[in-house]
Amino acid sequence: MPAILVIDDNPAVATALEMLFSLHDIDVAHVASPVQGLQHLRGHDVDLVIQDMNFEADTTSGEEGVALFHQIRGEHPDLPVILLTAWTHLESAIDLVKAGAVDYLAKPWDDRKLLATVNNLLELAQAQRELAQERAGEKRRRGALLRDFDLRGLVFADNASENMLALACQVARSDIPVLITGPNGTGKEKYAEIVHANSGARNGPFIALNCGALPADLIEAELFGAEPGAYTGASNKPREGKFEAAHGGTLFLDEIGTLPLAGQVKLLRVLETGRFQRLGGNQERAVTVRIISATNANLAGLIAEGAFREDLFYRLNGIELRLAPLAQRQRDILPLARHFLPAGKRLGDDAERTLLRHAWPGNVRELRNVMQRAALLARGDVVSATDLNLQPAEPDRAMIERALEHNRGVLAQAAAELGMSRQALYRRLDRHGIKRD
Ligand SMILES: Nc1ncnc2c1ncn2[C@@H]1O[C@H](COP(=O)(O)OP(=O)(O)OP(=O)(O)O)[C@@H](O)[C@H]1O
Ligand SMILES: [Mg+2]
Repeated sequence: MPAILVIDDNPAVATALEMLFSLHDIDVAHVASPVQGLQHLRGHDVDLVIQDMNFEADTTSGEEGVALFHQIRGEHPDLPVILLTAWTHLESAIDLVKAGAVDYLAKPWDDRKLLATVNNLLELAQAQRELAQERAGEKRRRGALLRDFDLRGLVFADNASENMLALACQVARSDIPVLITGPNGTGKEKYAEIVHANSGARNGPFIALNCGALPADLIEAELFGAEPGAYTGASNKPREGKFEAAHGGTLFLDEIGTLPLAGQVKLLRVLETGRFQRLGGNQERAVTVRIISATNANLAGLIAEGAFREDLFYRLNGIELRLAPLAQRQRDILPLARHFLPAGKRLGDDAERTLLRHAWPGNVRELRNVMQRAALLARGDVVSATDLNLQPAEPDRAMIERALEHNRGVLAQAAAELGMSRQALYRRLDRHGIKRD
C-alpha cells in the first residue's frame, strides 16, 4: 500500500485527505508543521508528500512552504511532492514544479484531479526507481567486464553490445572456433582481437589473413608456406605460412567467404588434423592454433550456391558472434562519436540529433570517418550538424509520425527535426498518406 505524508497545519485538510485516500487503499500520515514533517520522513518510508505552502508562523507569504520543499528535496531527492496552495501563491508553486517530480493543486482541490496527480507521481517515481536499478545493474555488470577482461578499448553502451561482448569474452576462454559475422565496419576485427586477448593463446601471436586480398593461387602458399621453387614466381627461400606463424596463438581468417573452393578443402584438412605440408614440401607439420574467422557475406547463401563448403562452415562455426548494424545499437552511437573526436572537441546538440537519426550503412567505420572529417571542418570546439555533412536518412513513416507528435503537429518544426524542408515533409506526408491537421 503506498504511503502518503500530509504536512498541513489545518486539521480539516488532513481529515479530508485521510478520508479520500482511505477509500483508495492509500495509507496517510499527518503532521502539522515542517519540522515534524522532516522528522517523520527521516524515520518512515513515504512514497509521496502533500504539503501546504503556509503554516502558522507565517500565513501569507508562502515562503515557509518553499523552504520546506527545498529541505525535502535536499534530503530525499526523488520523493514526489504535491504542493497544496492557495490561489495567491500559485506562482511560487509553479516555479517549484520545474524542479521535477512535483505538482501543485490549488485549494480547494478537486478530489479526482488530486487522485490522478497522486497516481501519476507514484507511477513516475516507480518508473524512475526501476530505471535507476536497471542502470545500477548495468554499471555493475560493465564494471565487472572491464575488470575481468581485456576489452581492447572497445567502446559500448548499448545492451546488445554488452551482451555480445560478454559472450565473446566467455567463448574466448575455450578453444572453440569462433565465426564473427556482421555487416561492413561493425567491428568484426576488433572482436577477433578481443577473443584472442582473453584466450589461452593471448601470449602467442595474432596473425590476420585477409582471404579476400589474395589472388586465388597464392592462398595456399600464404596459409601453409612454400618450399623454394614450389610454384612459378616462388622465391628461392623457404616461406613460412600463416599457420606456422600463428603456432601457439590465433589465426584470424578475415573475409572467409571469399576463400576459393580449392583453399577451402585444404583449410578443412588442417582444421581436422592439425597437420599440413608446405607447398612443394613433403614434411608434415603440426601446429596448435586458435581459429577465428570473419565474414560480412551470407555463408548460408554461399553454401546454397555451392560456393562455400558446408563441412568447413561447421568447422569454423563453433560459435557465431553476430554483430548488429550500428543503427540497431542506438546507445553506442554517441559514445562512439565522442570517442572518435579529438580531445577538446565536443558535439553540439544538433549534431547529436543528426548522428542518432543517420542510418549508418557503413557502421562504425563510417562513423569514425565522419567524426574525423567533422573535427577538421569544425571552426571552434563544438562540432555542429553542418560539420558532419551527412545526408539525412530517409525517414520512415514512424519517424515522421514521431516528429509530428514531438512538435504537436507544427510542420515547420517537425521538418526541422527531420532535417528537411517543409516542402519535402509535405511530399512525404502525401506519400505515406499521413493526414496534415
Ligand atoms: N565498439 C567499438 N569501439 C571502438 N572502436 C570500434 C568499435 N567497433 C569498431 N571500431 C573501429 O571501427 C573500425 C572498423 O571496425 P572493424 O575493422 O573491426 O570492422 P569490420 O567489421 O572488421 O569491418 P569490415 O567488414 O569492413 O572488415 C576500426 O577502426 C575499429 O577499431
Ligand atoms: Mg574487417
